[in-house]
Amino acid sequence: MHDIQQMLEEKRAKARLGGGEKRIAAQHAKGKLTARERLELLFDEGTFEEWDMFVEHRCVDFGMQDNKIPGDGVVTGYGMINGRLAFSFSQDFTVFGGALSESHAEKICKVMDQAMKVGAPVIGLNDSGGARIQEGVASLGGYADVFQKNVLASGVIPQISMIMGPCAGGAVYSPAMTDFIFMVKDSSYMFVTGPEVVKTVTHEEVTAEELGGATTHNTKSGVADLAFENDVEAILMLRRFFNYLPLNNREKAPVRPSGDPGNRVDMSLDTLVPDNANKPYDMKELILKTVDDGDFFELQPDYAKNIIIGMARMDGQTVGIVANQPLVLAGCLDIKSSIKAARFVRFCDAFNIPVITFVDVPGFMPGTSQEYGGIIKHGAKLLYAYAECTVPKVTVITRKAYGGAYDVMASKHLRGDVNFAWPNAEIAVMGAKGAVEIIFREDKNDPEKLAAREAEYKARFANPFVAGARGFIDDVIQPHETRKRICRSLAMLKDKKLENPWRKHGNIPL
Ligand code: HXC
Repeated sequence: MHDIQQMLEEKRAKARLGGGEKRIAAQHAKGKLTARERLELLFDEGTFEEWDMFVEHRCVDFGMQDNKIPGDGVVTGYGMINGRLAFSFSQDFTVFGGALSESHAEKICKVMDQAMKVGAPVIGLNDSGGARIQEGVASLGGYADVFQKNVLASGVIPQISMIMGPCAGGAVYSPAMTDFIFMVKDSSYMFVTGPEVVKTVTHEEVTAEELGGATTHNTKSGVADLAFENDVEAILMLRRFFNYLPLNNREKAPVRPSGDPGNRVDMSLDTLVPDNANKPYDMKELILKTVDDGDFFELQPDYAKNIIIGMARMDGQTVGIVANQPLVLAGCLDIKSSIKAARFVRFCDAFNIPVITFVDVPGFMPGTSQEYGGIIKHGAKLLYAYAECTVPKVTVITRKAYGGAYDVMASKHLRGDVNFAWPNAEIAVMGAKGAVEIIFREDKNDPEKLAAREAEYKARFANPFVAGARGFIDDVIQPHETRKRICRSLAMLKDKKLENPWRKHGNIPL
C-alpha cells in the first residue's frame, strides 16, 4: 500500500511540474505565472479540486508517443471564488506551448459539461500556441467540440475568458463566444492570422502587439472588455467581477449589503447638468454618485466611449448600467456604441440582472461612414436588445432624449418599467434649432423670426412634461433623489415576471 501511495505522489509531482523547471523559469521570465499558480490565485485558498491530472495525449506521430506529459497542457477542475462555485481550465504553456490536443480539448469539454449540469460559471485561462500541430485534424475537431459547448452554454452559465498568452487562429473563436474577454497587457494577443500571414497577404507590416494585443482589442476592435497590467491584477479583478454575477440563468446575482443607505440623496447632482444644453458633463459622476458606495465596475472603458456600460449594485443588488456619455461625441449613438451596449443588455437579460439606463442622447450619429457601415442594422441591435429584455428596466433621462434614440434607450414604449426624467430633460423629435429650420423653412432668411420660432418650439417641446402628460414618463424627479427613486423602483420590481412569446429564437439584426 505504501508503495502505491508513494507512486501516486510521484505521479502527481510529475504532473505538477508540467513542462519542467526550465520552461517554468522561462514562463516566469516573461512576467507570467504558470497555469497552476494562476488557479491558486483565482480560487479561495485550498478549494481547487483538480480533475484529469493523469490524462495524456494519444498522438503517435512525430515521436509524440515517447513525449507525454501528464495533464497534457491544461489544468482543469473546480473550486470556490469568495465562497461560490466556479469551474476553470488553465492552459499550461510549459507543456507543448499549451497547444490543444484532442485529449486537452476533452478535458475542457468535461468541465464545461459538469458546469452546465450543476449550473456554475466557467472561467478559461487561455495561454496556448493553438492547435497541437502534431495532431492535425484531431486537434481541430477538439476545438470544434469546445466551440459547440460554448454555444450551448451561452445564456445558461456565465463564461469568462482571460487571455494570458498567445491565442491565435481559429482558437480565438472559443473566447469570442464567451460573455467577457479580459486580457493581460504586453503578454497576451489574439488574432485570426498572425503578423507573418498578414505581411504575405496584405503586405502590411505589423507586430503581434499592434495586431492583436490587449490595447488593440480594448481600444480599436472592441473584442476585449478589459486590459490588466499583469497576471496578478487580472486574476484579482476577475474575482471581483465574479462577485457581481449569478451562477446561472435560473439564479439571481448574490446580494451584497452595503452601509450605503438606499434613500441617500446627493444635492450636488442638482447642478451636474450645465445650464447651456450644448455643454458636456461627465455622466460617470452621476453613476458614481448613484450606485452603492460609488463602486462601479466599468467594462470596455476605452472603446466607444460615447456609451458607458458596467456592473454596480443598488441596495446590494447587482445592476447593469448603460449610460450615454455627453463628454464623447455629445453622447450620440453610433455603430460601435450600439453594439457595445446591445451585447451588454443581452448579457444582463440572460442572467437576471436589472438594467439601469441613464439617457442623454442627441440622436444617432449622422454621416456617410455611419450609413455605409450599417448604422441601421447596428443601431437596431440595441433597439432589439432593449425590446426583448424582460428583466427590470429603470430609465432616467438627465437631459436630451431625441428622435429614434429616445425610443431605443429603454423607453416606456420598449417595456421600460419605470421611466424618470430630470426637470430639465428635453424629450422631442429633435433639437429646437434643427426642428424650426425644417418646419419653418420659409423663415430661413429672417433670423429674428427664426429665433422666435426656436424659443417657441423650445418652450413647447424641450421639457419632460409633454411626455409626462402621455404617461411615457412615470415621474419628473429631482436629480438629488435619483438613487432613492431607483432603489425604490428596483425593490418594487423584485419579483417582476414577464415572458416573451415562445419561439425557437429571435432573429436579431446581426
Ligand atoms: C505543438 C507547439 C505549438 C503548437 C508551440 N509549441 N506551439 N507545439 N503545437 N501549435 C511548442 C514549441 O514547439 C515549443 O516546444 C513550446 O511550445 C514553446 O514554443 P516557443 O515557440 O518556444 O515559444 P515562443 O517563442 O514564446 O512562441 C510562442 C508561439 C509559437 C508564438 C505560440 O510557438 C508559435 O508560433 N507556435 C505556433 C502557432 C501556430 O501556428 N499554431 C497553430 C495555429 S492554427 P519546446 O519543446 O521547444 O518547449 C490553429 C487553428 C485552430 O490554432 C483552428 C481551430 C478551428
